[in-house]
Amino acid sequence: MKPYDVIGSGTRTKSLDAVLMLEKKKRGKKQTVLVIGSGGREHAIGWKLARSLQVGKLYFAPGNPGTGEIGENVPIKADDIEGLVAFAKTKNIDITVVGTEASLVAGIVDRFAKDGFRIFGPNKQAARLETSKAWAVEFMARHGVPHPISEIFDHPGEALAYAEKLGGRCVVKADGLCQGKGVFVCNWQEEARRAVTMLMVDKLFGSAGDRVVIQEKLEGKEVSVMAFCDGSRAVPLVAVQDYKRAYDGDHGPNTGSMGSAAPAKHVGPTLLKKIHRLLTLAVKGMGDEGAAYRGILYAGLMIVDGKPYILEFNCRFGDPETQVQLPLLETDLLPILEACIDGRLTAEMVRWKKASAVCVVLASEGYPGIYKTGEIVRGLRQPAGNHGFMVFHAGTSRFGTVVQSAGGRVLGVTATAPTARAARKKAYAAIGNPLSFEGMQYRKDIGK
Ligand code: AMP
Ligand code: GLY
Repeated sequence: MKPYDVIGSGTRTKSLDAVLMLEKKKRGKKQTVLVIGSGGREHAIGWKLARSLQVGKLYFAPGNPGTGEIGENVPIKADDIEGLVAFAKTKNIDITVVGTEASLVAGIVDRFAKDGFRIFGPNKQAARLETSKAWAVEFMARHGVPHPISEIFDHPGEALAYAEKLGGRCVVKADGLCQGKGVFVCNWQEEARRAVTMLMVDKLFGSAGDRVVIQEKLEGKEVSVMAFCDGSRAVPLVAVQDYKRAYDGDHGPNTGSMGSAAPAKHVGPTLLKKIHRLLTLAVKGMGDEGAAYRGILYAGLMIVDGKPYILEFNCRFGDPETQVQLPLLETDLLPILEACIDGRLTAEMVRWKKASAVCVVLASEGYPGIYKTGEIVRGLRQPAGNHGFMVFHAGTSRFGTVVQSAGGRVLGVTATAPTARAARKKAYAAIGNPLSFEGMQYRKDIGK
């Protein structure tokens, strides 16, 4: 039987996949890749994949006007799992890369694997690290992964009594997904009471707040570190500094992030090694529990007296972290993703350029509050040339030849250079005149 006969039978096995891959390489056939999502993160993933010698046709579902320039956008939503499976069958997709958690939560990895499609991301069982904060803290306790002291509650009365015992100085977290809005850092009894009531009684986030986690409030320095994982190994990505507050000097309301810079100056090699140990512990623990973790594991950490504690896990690339990480990745992304799927990842596959990257998010007027959309974006052609700039689209839409703003975060302007200072200078030089839109707002201190 020729390996190609197996395609589309719905019974492809791992070993047959390996044979198929080898065959393709011999024939020089390139891989057809599908990226799922529509933000700056997916544009950055696609941008890096488009540079792979092994990638042929690149599809995005649903993608954005930026991804439409490097591949083909298909109008299938990220959580339309059956639509995506049908598309993968029609186009003989070799590898699917999941950008957004919406697809992971909907069980895309299990569904694709059932039909024999290779897909990068954790399955539903493994994604519990992100989808249930209660499950994640219980998991960390079982495997000795350092995290804040945590208690889990199903009844508001008991939760309130515990918060009171802590004097209100605690962090109240909804168990389920709340689009990053289900965590309340409290200093006073009244704050904690309000948080518990909002989640468990008023059901601000529906069933996501049926159960809450109450944690001790840690004081320290926050960092985020991601790793490629292959079921038993974790290889870290370059550490990133994320700028979550809306205004310069870390003032103003929290946003989805106003920019990122890598490598993060405050995460030295010793700290990165400690964090790597935690991520490895987590991946091994998941494997031991029969929920092998394959994909990106993103850990939000607090560093207290030089010791890292895990505050939360995410099961996907960060946004806009990915927009500075992938431009710094020296090695080809596709073989890394394949090695994660196949369980043969090595540290040598993941090499980083000795350079810095800065990404400045251009946001709509009013963001993160009520913001305006539909503004014409000018000057997109100018900086997108081959001058060490990338303009990643986050929230845009296209009408004929016109690109308009269509979200809170509109574009991510990323520059790479030998030093952080030069990268920063280059990124800011690309903004305004002509790259701009009415009401555009951005921080002036990213990477400073
Ligand atoms: P999470 O979604 O769990 O990362 O929480 C969102 C933010 O809340 C984090 O980025 C921290 O700033 C803060 N946070 C979460 N848990 C704690 C904790 N146990 N102690 C102090 N701050 C926390
Ligand atoms: N930048 C934060 C995140 O991707 O979750």
